[in-house]
Amino acid sequence: MQIVRSVQELGQAVDALRRDGRLALVPTMGALHAGHMALVEAAADHASHVVATIFVNPTQFAPGEDLDRYPRREEADADMLRSVGCDLLWLPGVEDIYPPGFETRVSVAGVSERWEGEARPGHFDGVATVVARLLLATRADVALFGEKDFQQLAVIRRLVADLGIGCEIVGVPTVRDTDGLALSSRNAYLSADERARALALPQALNAAADAIRSGRPVAEALAEGRASLVQAGFTRIDYFALVDAATLEPLEAPAGTMRLIVAAVIGTTRLIDNSPV
Ligand code: PAJ
Repeated sequence: MQIVRSVQELGQAVDALRRDGRLALVPTMGALHAGHMALVEAAADHASHVVATIFVNPTQFAPGEDLDRYPRREEADADMLRSVGCDLLWLPGVEDIYPPGFETRVSVAGVSERWEGEARPGHFDGVATVVARLLLATRADVALFGEKDFQQLAVIRRLVADLGIGCEIVGVPTVRDTDGLALSSRNAYLSADERARALALPQALNAAADAIRSGRPVAEALAEGRASLVQAGFTRIDYFALVDAATLEPLEAPAGTMRLIVAAVIGTTRLIDNSPV
């Protein structure tokens, strides 16, 4: 696996890889786990070469969020990527992504406005801007994103369609620990007690999905889900909602392709998860 840092080095490496086939991109912020590895493995099914990026993007963190304490483990991350056959790792610095004079911000309306967009003002502008930058810099033919960040995936699909960025976007199902908790770099913040309680998150999603499938009114199923999170010790629930899977608009009754989405805080850690219905 080749490792590059500057945009110029990246350009040369990408030129060489593109000569003999399609290029897949897996953007990450590092502190890699099996969820990220699933993206790299899926990427290999869609292209002849895989490039991963690790960049803790400052513009997607609101003031007071965990930018400074976000886990950074460059060497272990590189070892993991190498072990799953990643061809190229781009480790840009902030100045490679946002050189002096950088003034552009990409903002996706509609699908980014509710839920994470409301709880984390500016977050999706930061995500859309950096993802546009990464897609264009790597000239990837296909890019893979996790369903773990379900709204992010929807925002990126909208961005790529609206700007006509010629890159296929592929969503990859959430990878979970054996007990059901979705893998996340932020799980590292949880104490043993919080980690045990956090299991209520996927359990509440599954219970609500079952209830909705069996015909319970949506409002009741959601209220029970929220109550079970409070019971488990979550101190704040930003949302627990049934939404349209493409537009992220809330649904009061089952319709079309749906998703249950949740964000809640345990201790000092904010966790998100979602489930198909
Ligand atoms: P990060 O949180 O590092 O996630 C990188 C990619 O891994 C995202 O597409 C995310 O959805 C996916 N992922 C995380 N946990 C997963 C899991 N348990 N199962 C499957 N996929 C999982 O998301 C970001 O970084 C950033 O916002 C980024 C897109 C890189 C832009 O900065």
